Amino acid sequence: MFLVSGVDLVVACCQTGVIGSFPALNARTTEALDQWLDAIRQGVGSRPYAVNLIVHPSNPRLSQDLDCLQRHRVPLVITSLGAVDSVVEQVHSWGGLVYHDVTNAKHARKAVAAGVDGLIAVSAGAGGHAGTCHPFALIGELQAITDLPIVLAGAISRGREIRAAQALGAQGGYLGTAFIATQESMASDPYKACLLDSQAADVVYTDQVSGVPGNFIRRSLIQAGIDPAQSGEKSLDLHTGDAASEAKAWKTIWSAGQGVGAIGQVHSTAELVQALIKDYQAGAV
Ligand SMILES: Cc1cc2nc3c(=O)[nH]c(=O)nc-3n(C[C@H](O)[C@H](O)[C@H](O)COP(=O)(O)O)c2cc1C
Repeated sequence: MFLVSGVDLVVACCQTGVIGSFPALNARTTEALDQWLDAIRQGVGSRPYAVNLIVHPSNPRLSQDLDCLQRHRVPLVITSLGAVDSVVEQVHSWGGLVYHDVTNAKHARKAVAAGVDGLIAVSAGAGGHAGTCHPFALIGELQAITDLPIVLAGAISRGREIRAAQALGAQGGYLGTAFIATQESMASDPYKACLLDSQAADVVYTDQVSGVPGNFIRRSLIQAGIDPAQSGEKSLDLHTGDAASEAKAWKTIWSAGQGVGAIGQVHSTAELVQALIKDYQAGAV
């Protein structure tokens, strides 16, 4: 998650047995990314972890970041906003896997054609740049296109929801928002406190922050002078075109998915994962 996931969160996740991930752009330069990857490998040992790459022409660091991931033989690369076969080929050249974020069948077809190894179905209600498709419909359409593994994202905050994703035939669940309110995340204390106070009804889907629709907490939009009822005229900067203003926006305008209401306190990552496992097991039928 942009400005939220860093070395500490990834290491804590991997130490509990889940696959921690972060966007390469959270390290503010490729040199910093190199150091982060050293620190992560030291912290996670041989356990798998993932790095997210924004595969879009507006990302000037794509090629150098990809070379950096190659030097570190990153086991799993999550691509967003563009499925490009040359990127997939490069990741495969070092034995890495590529899972691609999709919100609809059209993008899934492109990703399959580009040779990805799996899809992340980003459904309605997800944090960040969410889709608008109900998870039942999205998973069904993706399964009609491909036999590749699918991981479901969107408003998953409890173990029983990971079980539900598996009941739909997904390989597993992909969680964002729940991990913002952990001790290891880089989110500010006011952001974490705001999540504890928020419910699904406080989440607004708007394109006003970056030009691409995403889910944000209403209170933080209003504090930033944005009227959630209006449609924006922002350009498509996608964390990179105008990096400084984009980062500033995401620092003060807080993204969350509709599963935010399940967050009751700021836990350590280990406690959160234990709670997820307990709830997953309790939901067994
Ligand atoms: C604050 C925040 C920042 C995010 N930044 C990114 C990002 O940089 N790249 C990306 O692929 N997804 C990003 N996402 C989306 C997540 O990777 C994930 O798909 C989503 O959080 C899952 O839905 P959930 O938040 O309801 O669990 C972000 C989500 C949040 C909440």
